[in-house]
Amino acid sequence: MSIKVPERLAAGAPGWSREADVVVIGTGIAGLTAALRLRGQVGTILVVTKDVLSAGSTQWAQGGIAAALGPGDTPTEHEIDTLVAGAGACDLEAVRILVNEGPEAVRELISIGANFDHAAGGELSLTREGGHHRDRIAHAGGDATGAEIQRALVAAIEAAEEIEVIQHALAVDLQLDAAGTVCGLTLHVMGEGQRDGVGQVRCRAVVLASGGLGQVFSQTTNPAVSTGDGMALALRAGAVLRDLEFVQFHPTVMYLGPDSMGQQPLISEAVRGEGAFLVDDDGTRFMQGVHELADLAPRDVVAKAITRRMHEQGKEHMWLDARHLGREFWEHRFPTILATARRHGVDPVTDLIPVAPACHYASGGVATDLWGRSTIPGLYATGEAACSGVHGANRLASNSLLEGLVFSRRIAQVLPGELRPQTDPVADPRTPGVIAAKVRPEMQATMTERVGVLRSASGLAAATEVLTDLAMTEGDEGTESWETTNLVSISAALAASAALREETRGTHWREDFPERDDAGFAGHFDVVLVSGTPVVTFHAAEATDQGQV
Ligand code: SIN
Repeated sequence: MSIKVPERLAAGAPGWSREADVVVIGTGIAGLTAALRLRGQVGTILVVTKDVLSAGSTQWAQGGIAAALGPGDTPTEHEIDTLVAGAGACDLEAVRILVNEGPEAVRELISIGANFDHAAGGELSLTREGGHHRDRIAHAGGDATGAEIQRALVAAIEAAEEIEVIQHALAVDLQLDAAGTVCGLTLHVMGEGQRDGVGQVRCRAVVLASGGLGQVFSQTTNPAVSTGDGMALALRAGAVLRDLEFVQFHPTVMYLGPDSMGQQPLISEAVRGEGAFLVDDDGTRFMQGVHELADLAPRDVVAKAITRRMHEQGKEHMWLDARHLGREFWEHRFPTILATARRHGVDPVTDLIPVAPACHYASGGVATDLWGRSTIPGLYATGEAACSGVHGANRLASNSLLEGLVFSRRIAQVLPGELRPQTDPVADPRTPGVIAAKVRPEMQATMTERVGVLRSASGLAAATEVLTDLAMTEGDEGTESWETTNLVSISAALAASAALREETRGTHWREDFPERDDAGFAGHFDVVLVSGTPVVTFHAAEATDQGQV
C-alpha cells in the first residue's frame, strides 16, 4: 500500500472574489523584495501572509547575510565555500549568480534603509560562520540581522501605496486554466470583515515566498508558521519539488529539555565565529581534529560530530563555551541571544550553554530555474520555499537571506514580460481531502526519530508506514487541519526522497550507507504528486565540488 495525501484541500466554495495581476505569498525577505521590485512594472500586486507582516523566518535570522564585501574577498572565494558546503549537489550556475549578484543586492538593501553594523573605522563590520574561509557575514543590531532587515522591508512596503497586503490569509490551493497555467488561487482569510473565510483571487502570476517546513519536526528553530504550505500547494498543483531530503539541522540550538516542542532558541554560529567552542560532557573540545576549521566546520560536519558525541556519552546535549567572550562583548555583540539564554536560566557570561542540533533549514523546495520559474507556467518560487540549486546538500551559513534577495530580484526582471492575459480556471478534477490536526504531534515525533539527523532504510520504512496511517485520518476543514495536511504531504515526499538516496551526503546522513557515492547519487531527486502519491525520480548530474573538497 502506498501513501496517499489529498490531491487538493477540502475547503468551502469561495465566498468572495477579487483580482490582481500578481499575488506574492509570504512576507519575509524573499516575498517583500519581490513585491518591491515588481512595483511599477505590473499593475496590481497583492501580498498575502498567513500571520502578520513580520511573522516569518526572516526576523529570526541572527548571524547575518553573506556576501563578498570585505577587503580582499571575492565572489569566487564565496563560490568555493558554497560549493564545498553543498557537498557536490549545488547547481554551479545558480551559485555563481548568488555570489556575483549578492554584493550589489546587499548594498541595495542598505540603500532602502537596513542599518548594518559598522566597525570603528566606518566600514561594514563582517564576521565569520561555519564553512566560510573569510569574514564575510554582514550583521545588524549585533545578532538581530533578520529583525532589522524585516523592519526596513516592512517600512518600504507600508510606504508603497500600490501594494496591497492581506494578513491572516492562508493560501489554500492554486487554480489552473485549460493550458495548465496559473490563473488564481484560493485563500482562507481570518477576520477580515468582507473577505472573511474562503475566497479566490484571480491573477496572472503567483510568487511563492512562503518559507520552510521546520514544523515537520518536533524541535526546530523555525517559527510556528513554517508548515511547508507553499511547497505543499505547489506539489498539489503538479509542480516538481527537488532535494527535499536535504534538511539542515543547526548544530547549536539551545537545549531546553526532552519535552520542549516547537520553536527552540538558536545560538548563532557567529558566536563560534567570535571564538566560542564546543565541549563534551567531560569538558573536552571535540571539534579539533574533526575538520581543518574545527568549531567552524560546515554545519553538517559540526551537527554530526555533536550527535556522535551525544550517542557515545549517552547525553541529550553537548555544551557551548563562550564565557571567555566576557560580559561587555556579550551585551554589545549578542544582546538577543544573551537575553534569551538568561530567560531560560542560563547566563552565557558565566555558564556553559547546553546545545543540540535541531531542524533549521530546508535546502530543497519547489524546483526553479535561474529566474525563479517553477515547472508550472505563471508560478515562481523564491527563498526557502524554492530549490534554486544554490544550497546543494547543505546550505552554507548566511546564504539563505542572500538567496531570497538575489532570486527575488531576478524574478522581478523576467516576470513582467511573461505575464499572460487573465484566463479562467478549469473545473478541478482532483479529489479533495483534509488530514486531522490531531495527528500532528505523532507525525512530528516520527519525522524527528526516523527522518531526522540520522536515517536508515528500516527507520524510513517505519516512518512511511506511520505517515500512511496518519494520512488516512480525516479531519474537518480549518487552518490547523490544512496546515497538518501540508505537513504530512511534505513529510511523505521528504521520506520518499530520503529512502531512495542510499548514500551519506551533506545533511542527509544514512547510517546504513555511510559514504558519499558520486557514481550512484550525484544529482537530484525530484518529487511530483501522482493521484495523491509522491513519486520520486532521480536525475544524475556531475558533482559540483570536484577538486575543491
Ligand atoms: C546562525 O546565525 O547561526 C544562522 C545563520 C544561518 O542559518 O545561515
